[in-house]
Amino acid sequence: MINVAILGFGVVGSGTAEVIEKNKDVIKTKTGADLVIKHILDLRDFPGSPFEKLVTHDFNDIINDKEVDIVVEAMGGAHPAYDFSKAALEAGKHVVTSNKLVVAQFGTELLEIAEKNGVRYLFEASVGGGIPIIKPMMSDLAQNRIDGISGILNGTTNYILTQMSENGAEFADALKEAQTKGYAEADPTSDIEGHDAARKIVILAALAYGKLISPDDIHCEGITKIDAKDVKFAEEMDGYSIKLIGHAEKVGDKILAFVAPRLIPTANPLHDVSDVFNGILVNCDMLGDAMFYGRGAGKLPTASAVVSDVIDIAIKSEMKAGSAKWTDAADDDIAPLSDHVCAHYFRIAGCVKCMEKVCDNIVHCVSENGETAFITKPMTEAEAFEKEKAFAENGTKVLSRIRVL
Ligand code: HSE
Repeated sequence: MINVAILGFGVVGSGTAEVIEKNKDVIKTKTGADLVIKHILDLRDFPGSPFEKLVTHDFNDIINDKEVDIVVEAMGGAHPAYDFSKAALEAGKHVVTSNKLVVAQFGTELLEIAEKNGVRYLFEASVGGGIPIIKPMMSDLAQNRIDGISGILNGTTNYILTQMSENGAEFADALKEAQTKGYAEADPTSDIEGHDAARKIVILAALAYGKLISPDDIHCEGITKIDAKDVKFAEEMDGYSIKLIGHAEKVGDKILAFVAPRLIPTANPLHDVSDVFNGILVNCDMLGDAMFYGRGAGKLPTASAVVSDVIDIAIKSEMKAGSAKWTDAADDDIAPLSDHVCAHYFRIAGCVKCMEKVCDNIVHCVSENGETAFITKPMTEAEAFEKEKAFAENGTKVLSRIRVL
């Protein structure tokens, strides 16, 4: 019997309890793990809930209970989630979390503490919602060097972009729906400004390259500046879709990571990843491209990933190793965005001639009502920035610049 305590009875915490209770028999049959929920920590009471009697308001009830094997941290936010996770690991309890903020900010320290105490710190649900991606990165792909990772990592923004492009929805309405469906963060600014995706890409980069970069140290653009016109022009040019992409790659011995909206060509498997779904494309040197796809947010998909970690611990509980291995990235480990090379989409307030004065490396172009949208051949970020400056010097306003994947 494996006793589990759940910290936080919100969307993910209550989903975790639901998955364990509803699928107890399936879990037992398939894995032999007999999971029992022993405590649930929350500030609130839940009268009428089948888990009502398990609720405590005191973390000490959990930390001092020697029978608790695994603590599921589903509180969200940095504190006290980090503090409780650290205390649980130090008390010799395994910790499972969906909290990408804590993993991205304190993951190195928590992994070290876990190792010292012979327990595991697992976070399958922190990236890609219900999609298995963390454990595959740690084990199934370990025999590959990772050439790059590009992922649609935020369900809320993908839902909003899909509603806007397919159903003509307004941004604010689509965001409200994403909140109602339980996809968005407590403060949805972190979804729409790309911070949530930034936390996820640094976690994936740490698994791929062994260094955890602070999400504050990477370039991060959200979707708030994407105009419906950009979506239309991109589609008209060659069927491109626009998605918020977290990207990481090795540039020499440095790691380049950033989050930005990108134009996705039709041939790219991320092109049709819509709605709340996430897609993560991992370029491996031996396997080639591997695509991970599934629901990136929501109660039961995320809880499914949480419980997969609980089961992993339950069936390997005799193993001491098995947590991720990385160290914090130094400044020297991080490549600047100016090194990144890709094609660029521009939309300018001007005609084709205005475009030609500055850019002569055009692949696609449409012009309508005094605005011209075009896609260049690949160039460095630094060169694209110079083009923006040259347009400004010529008196041509750049309305949008979006990188092509
Ligand atoms: N707010 C996040 C998203 C939840 O929309 O992807 C899952 O991490």
